Amino acid sequence: MAYALITGASGGIGWALAQELASRKHDVLLVARSEATLLKNAQELAQKFGIASDFLALDLSTSDAAIRVNDWLTSKNYLIDVLINNAGFGSWGKLETLKREELNQMMQLNMQTLADLCKVLLPSLQKNKEAYILNVASTAAYQAVPTLTTYAATKAFVLLFSRGLRWELAGTPVSVSCLSPGATSTGFIDRANMGFLKERAEKFSMKADEVARIAIQGMYAGKAEIIPGALNWISAKMAELIPKSLPEKIAMNLYKTGK
Ligand SMILES: NC(=O)c1ccc[n+]([C@@H]2O[C@H](COP(=O)([O-])OP(=O)(O)OC[C@H]3O[C@@H](n4cnc5c(N)ncnc54)[C@H](OP(=O)(O)O)[C@@H]3O)[C@@H](O)[C@H]2O)c1
Repeated sequence: MAYALITGASGGIGWALAQELASRKHDVLLVARSEATLLKNAQELAQKFGIASDFLALDLSTSDAAIRVNDWLTSKNYLIDVLINNAGFGSWGKLETLKREELNQMMQLNMQTLADLCKVLLPSLQKNKEAYILNVASTAAYQAVPTLTTYAATKAFVLLFSRGLRWELAGTPVSVSCLSPGATSTGFIDRANMGFLKERAEKFSMKADEVARIAIQGMYAGKAEIIPGALNWISAKMAELIPKSLPEKIAMNLYKTGK
């Protein structure tokens, strides 16, 4: 049986997606950097749901990451019919204050590795009668977000890349969906140095398992875009309809002072 490969499956939304798939009796392969957590997660899923699981501890923010994932799959004779590109992070702050190395890592992980994994693993996905790619963007993909400028731009890339690839693969066994969560309770805010927003964000954050349930349902239904939560959906779609400067100004005021 083919596996679902999930990146960023050591915690947060990726771990919730892995649990959701395992609960549907899908075998899973988990990829992230934290080896001990991946081992624990893979064992937990196998025991709890009686599925096959394995993991690869790998930094996906390097230019050869997709090739290394593919080499690992080949060496283990693993076939995949689901690819979930979830690993990603944001960094809050003005461009001039952020570290160049961190920005480059973010762009490599959020965009280049995601696109490269689609490219490199596509032949293997195409061997199935049905296969799925789920790329994780964000509601930030739908508008510019000052102080999360590079992050939002990487997510806009994910959204447009996914929509384009979906058309290219129409009529083939591979369905492509893009998941755009809004605020979700995970390690994201701490990783992005946005602790000042934590209290406020917690009030309207969704739970990762709720996001994952909606995401997997939408993926199997072959949806182009999945935006969990009515408010998130409305705000993303509004941002497409109203003058761009309006949501940008709101975002600037929300994020700039940290208050
Ligand atoms: N939480 C939100 O509010 C929110 C909203 C919209 C979109 N998203 C998107 O959702 C996705 C998941 O984020 P999350 O909220 O679940 O954040 P999270 O809790 O910080 O989880 C991030 C996951 O990505 C992995 N990861 C990070 N850097 C990596 C690297 N260099 N190589 C391999 N794996 C790496 C982490 O594992 P290791 O540290 O073990 O490597 C972890 O498993 C991201 O693409 C994020 O942009 C999140």
